[in-house]
Amino acid sequence: MIICGHRGLASLAPENTLAGLQAAHQQGLSWVEIDVQLSQDNQVVVFHDEYLDRCSNGRGQLRQHSWQQLSELDAGSWFGDEFSGERLVLLRDYLARAERLDIKVNIELKLYPEDSAAPLCQQVSRVITEGKFMPDSLLFSSFDPIALAHMQSLQPGIARALLVERIPDDWQLQLQRLDCRALNCNHRHLTDTQARAVSAAGYQLNCYTVNQQHKADTLADWGVNMVFTDVALKQTPSARNRAP
Ligand code: G3P
Ligand code: MG
Repeated sequence: MIICGHRGLASLAPENTLAGLQAAHQQGLSWVEIDVQLSQDNQVVVFHDEYLDRCSNGRGQLRQHSWQQLSELDAGSWFGDEFSGERLVLLRDYLARAERLDIKVNIELKLYPEDSAAPLCQQVSRVITEGKFMPDSLLFSSFDPIALAHMQSLQPGIARALLVERIPDDWQLQLQRLDCRALNCNHRHLTDTQARAVSAAGYQLNCYTVNQQHKADTLADWGVNMVFTDVALKQTPSARNRAP
């Protein structure tokens, strides 16, 4: 089972920053998950919340700020003095650093109620095309099926995951329609039966946010492919794969 750093590696460094990517690298992780949204001037920024307040010294909605304004914010001091001066980062620069560190990236297309999917998807696609980033090193995910449909037509060579809180009854139909490779769900609601059904249907199953080792071990036994975590989980073989 793959261990994927959530928002970088959110308990060890400020989320969605290059410091978080470095922390994931230091922990030996091969995957990280990040969230992306658009600035007022259509730059793709790595950031989770709709508002700047929690994870930076900025105030108000991210979408109301230009990249010039956002680039001047401190995105590290809220987490700890040692991260003072850490900046928000553009997707372009984050992916370039991840590529150098040989870390794959799950890009979550984050859409808040006032956002529309098309502009974000177009700009993300442009970043990937211009940066010539390797399709195999990326995975798109979103709670918004419309965003996934856009990415299907814009970047058909990059795998997609439908992101859900609970696995819906029609999960297989939705995955088929969007030609998704994976289903990303909250582990809290997942059952062994559901996990095995998703795997048996040929899809990858990824779970967020798993911060306890025993929970990760159970999910590995259920055949889950990847867990998103804020903490330094250990890579343990699943019971099925363990040497007898
Ligand atoms: O992609 C998994 C997880 O990140 C989804 O929830 O709110 O942490 O973006 P959130
Ligand atoms: Mg996310």
